[in-house]
Amino acid sequence: MVDKINYVDVCCGLSWGDEAKGKIVSYLSKIGNYDFVCRWAGGNNAGHTIYKDNIKYKTHLIPSGIFYNIRSIIGPDCVINKKSFFEEINYLKEKGFNTNLIFISPNTHVITDEHIKEDITSLHDSQGTTGKGIAPCYKDKYARKGILAKNIDEFKHYIWDEKLYGNILCEGAQGFWLDINKGNYPYVTSSNTLPYGACSLGFAPQYIRNIYGASKIYDTRSGIDPFFSKELLEDTDLLELVKIGHEYGTTTGRMRTTNWLNLDKLIDAVKISGTTIIIISKIDVIEKINKYKLYYDSKILEFDNFSKMKDFIDKILITNCNLLKKIIYSNTVELKDLDLD
Ligand code: IMP
Ligand code: MG
Repeated sequence: MVDKINYVDVCCGLSWGDEAKGKIVSYLSKIGNYDFVCRWAGGNNAGHTIYKDNIKYKTHLIPSGIFYNIRSIIGPDCVINKKSFFEEINYLKEKGFNTNLIFISPNTHVITDEHIKEDITSLHDSQGTTGKGIAPCYKDKYARKGILAKNIDEFKHYIWDEKLYGNILCEGAQGFWLDINKGNYPYVTSSNTLPYGACSLGFAPQYIRNIYGASKIYDTRSGIDPFFSKELLEDTDLLELVKIGHEYGTTTGRMRTTNWLNLDKLIDAVKISGTTIIIISKIDVIEKINKYKLYYDSKILEFDNFSKMKDFIDKILITNCNLLKKIIYSNTVELKDLDLD
């Protein structure tokens, strides 16, 4: 049996989630020759939009490898809701995908109805959580009194207790600034969203080859975060970005608070995540409103056109981030320029 790991690629969000990771992972799955595509953190609080052959699909938990006939693993540091897992399985079956390729790690923790109730009654209003029971489930995990997927009868058929091998793609959920350690606590999620979290799937960090960091050319936040002030909701240019960029949550339908790109935050996220290839998307959205602004060194800067803004971002990222090898700018749907080198 071949059980050696060849390489691992990781895709992570560099912002507050919703950075088109689904699209990047879907593109990589198509061209990258992977044996496994894995989720390492979070649960159905995430929402991934995927386009395959111009058809739009939405998933919350199951990794995007499934759209390309690749074994898809839900890792031991994820949390899983039984009802939503089977809804997703049925959805994928109906669409003609091979759900026999979907596997759950034995130690994945199970979200119960009580977790969801506790989330909705104690956290949803104050922190703007997705109300999916994420924090209470991780709370029980760390208190060592949680329920494991391997102990649930309905999951038996999906449990996979083997080792990863070959070429592996790890699909991040949420984003850098929602990380339990790095984010604006308590306005964070309850998991490790940084690439090191992917090692919980069962490989050593040295196997990581590329880290694809996803960002947009402007920032968005779904849920409550004092870092995104209420005044942003009254800025007409930013509201145009919401409208043209369709900035509404995949999971909750909520309008995302939108702001100009914070380059200071992005530099930190690129550096600390170890991003080697950054994909900055939705360029077409700012071009439509024809406003080119960003925050740098805590000041707002404005540029005449995108080309000038791009030159500035390139210069600053290259100067500050010595692990970064490539900067890719993309519009909303296409990622034609992405390659694996
Ligand atoms: P929770 O993960 O449901 O506990 O939510 C905690 C915070 O993370 C809230 O501000 C959510 O809006 C945010 N959040 C969780 N998952 C996502 C996501 O996939 N995209 C964007 N924001 C998210
Ligand atoms: Mg999302």
